[in-house]
Amino acid sequence: MEGENTRDPDKGITRKTLLRAAFIAAPAPLLIGQVPALARDMSGPLEPTPFCDDGDDPTPPQTEGPYFKPNSPRRSTLPGSGTLLTVSGYVFGLACQPLANVLLDFWQADRNGAYDNVGFNFRGHQFTDANGAYKLTTIVPGLYPGRTRHIHMKVQAPNRPVLTTQTYFPGEPRNNTDSIFDPRLLMNVRTVGSGREATFDFVLNVPGGPQPTGSPTTPPPGGGTWQAGVTYQAGAQVTYGGATYRCLQGHTAAPGWEPPNVPALWQRV
Ligand SMILES: [Fe+2]
Repeated sequence: MEGENTRDPDKGITRKTLLRAAFIAAPAPLLIGQVPALARDMSGPLEPTPFCDDGDDPTPPQTEGPYFKPNSPRRSTLPGSGTLLTVSGYVFGLACQPLANVLLDFWQADRNGAYDNVGFNFRGHQFTDANGAYKLTTIVPGLYPGRTRHIHMKVQAPNRPVLTTQTYFPGEPRNNTDSIFDPRLLMNVRTVGSGREATFDFVLNVPGGPQPTGSPTTPPPGGGTWQAGVTYQAGAQVTYGGATYRCLQGHTAAPGWEPPNVPALWQRV
């Protein structure tokens, strides 16, 4: 079924398995809000070796839906009227290692449930910092017909495949009737003043071990022509098809990743 996790079923009893079982057995949304937070407590410092109890359980994918648009602006604040919402958390690999320079591309409906398919309202991408942290400032999305309340995102670690998924809000009546809804993708949401603060940690299918950050295998090319097989660092500039592009995040170029095709990696300058 669309929206179901396409990975193999849970191999053992994990907290998320129990969470899902509890949800199915007794779909009382308030129960969900009482499980321990998946996201870290933002008030404390990050441990050198992060604790991550779901490291063997990558964030499940979800359907992209019809309204993704490439080439979103790089910004962590999506301006617009509505109930203020922040979404923050971390991106981890399978060994619970925080992942830096992960691309997160968000898109969502406005407060009336409409997507902007002409411009880029409520669309934007950002990168995790050195601690693997991200923070999105936006509004609570309205209800799109036939769906429960949700936010879309694509999450991609450098040189890794894209995870396309959605996150959800606890306590929403339509969570029980939306066939795509997955309780493993519930954010922790609390009310702060007139706004909402949500947290959610992503776990990507990235093996553990030392992260090869900041150690280029080849020197950044200085304005040459784009070539497959070359490792480009963020900030590098290349030409392709007569246009100049700036690299947004480090990667090794491959056929099919030509600058015009991957706006998440290359920005035309
Ligand atoms: Fe949607």
